[in-house]
Amino acid sequence: MAEFDYEKYRLRNFLNRLVQAGEVEVHNEHVELIDLAALIEATPKATWFKDVGPEHFEMTAGIMASRKRLAMAFGCSEAELQQEYMRRLATPQEVAEVSRVEAPVQQVVITGDDIDLAKLPFYLQHELDGATYLSAAMDFTVDPKSGKPNVGFRRLMLKGKRTMRANLTQISDLRRIYLEAVERKETLPVSFVVGAHPLVCLGAAIRLPVNEFELVAQLRGETMPMVKSVSNDIPVPADAELVIEGYFDERGYAEIEGPYGELYGLYGPMHPDPLFHVTAITMRKDVLHHTLLHGGQILTRNDAAHMSGLDAEVKAWNALKDAGLDVQAVHAPPSAVGMHHIRAAIRQKQAGDGRKAVEALLKRPLVKHVFVVDEDIDVFSDGEVERAMCTRFRVGKDLIVEHGHRTLTMDPTSDHGEQSVAGFDMTRDLSEPDDLIHWSSYSPRISGGKKAASVREALESGPKFFMGLMDALGDKDGRAIAVELGTLQDQGIVGRKPNGEWFLEGK
Ligand SMILES: Cc1cc2nc3c(=O)[nH]c(=O)nc-3n(C[C@H](O)[C@H](O)[C@H](O)COP(=O)(O)O)c2cc1C
Repeated sequence: MAEFDYEKYRLRNFLNRLVQAGEVEVHNEHVELIDLAALIEATPKATWFKDVGPEHFEMTAGIMASRKRLAMAFGCSEAELQQEYMRRLATPQEVAEVSRVEAPVQQVVITGDDIDLAKLPFYLQHELDGATYLSAAMDFTVDPKSGKPNVGFRRLMLKGKRTMRANLTQISDLRRIYLEAVERKETLPVSFVVGAHPLVCLGAAIRLPVNEFELVAQLRGETMPMVKSVSNDIPVPADAELVIEGYFDERGYAEIEGPYGELYGLYGPMHPDPLFHVTAITMRKDVLHHTLLHGGQILTRNDAAHMSGLDAEVKAWNALKDAGLDVQAVHAPPSAVGMHHIRAAIRQKQAGDGRKAVEALLKRPLVKHVFVVDEDIDVFSDGEVERAMCTRFRVGKDLIVEHGHRTLTMDPTSDHGEQSVAGFDMTRDLSEPDDLIHWSSYSPRISGGKKAASVREALESGPKFFMGLMDALGDKDGRAIAVELGTLQDQGIVGRKPNGEWFLEGK
């Protein structure tokens, strides 16, 4: 059996790396469960709580809620993040089964009457949530029909010592797998992992029609050790923190639950959901509980927005490439929950490329608004994107609106699951003249070194902008040149071209 390093992808070790990088706000003081959400949202950093609630839980939040922290999870820079993500998705990896004695996540095993969910840190995250819940639970299951492994994120509301309601509302593979089990009048075994390396979380957040255990291994970049759950045999990452094992019962969507504060910073409606019955809880001896902020009012502090954003960026990049465009940069801002807004910078090869890019991006599922700019605009800068909108976008010809696109049911702008979408072509119009009023005004720079003795001599070689004269004269001040030019102009020796360049009369 292969040897595995169970420390390498351990959540606690990743958190320690974040601390060293100055990315964590550490709370050594005692914190009540009711105060967690406000404290997590109050800082752009990740948080590490050393003493939560009467059980003195150790908890962490926000470990994926920034681009920098996601890049750290991959061990690359922010600039390399998209390429590294694509590289891992393109590199197959395997999973390997390891023994139960070896698996750190099964150091503690709780079964039978000892199971008490109310001893885990379920907490109220928003004022009007229906009950306390776990926000960072990842469901691992194997489709009984196809044998295909599946992973996703689902929030879990506490109902009893051994029961919880699972939010299984969105269209998803787990929802389909469960509905098919109900159809067959069968229960569905699932193990919820709470606390794992951020790359495991990223694998759970994305949806691809593949073996998703192997997908998680691909993101980790090597074979992933998995151990069979003690009570339902579902494999889970052996180096995770905590697992809640059990099954969804065969009654289907029989329990009304919610509301939940949702990813938009608003509430979702009450909805029917299935009931989950717990058969075992396993964990590390020094378990680190993982939680994350869902919604709230500062959406950039949501882990999900950053994870969905990275995935949306890469898919948008590929869509632009497939459309034959020269794509330079893509960003899906987390403040638009990561999946709804796409900004792309392209190098226009011909007139119409901006519009072509808009049309390609509007085809991406769940996209609401897309913004296409030229390569000189930084898509990660709100200010630069605003400037492109203000200076290169004409509503009469550069706005593309389409109707009847699908959106999430909980989207507050959804009209029976549909939405209208818009694309903003904010690229330069290549049919316009390439003249002064279309040029970007950058700060002046001179190379240094004197190449001419006087303004006249500098202009002998041809017309020059003022900065060109400063450069030729090695003059880092400019005022004397302005005065000299004024005199030469009054004497009829120098003149101006329409674009502002100075020239010697008769030259
Ligand atoms: C942090 C987080 C929490 C989520 N919570 C839920 C949830 O409570 N219910 C739900 O239906 N989807 C939720 N999702 C979305 C699904 O997990 C996501 O669509 C996933 O890709 C579905 O996986 P599947 O289609 O393989 O089952 C959440 C996503 C994230 C990132």
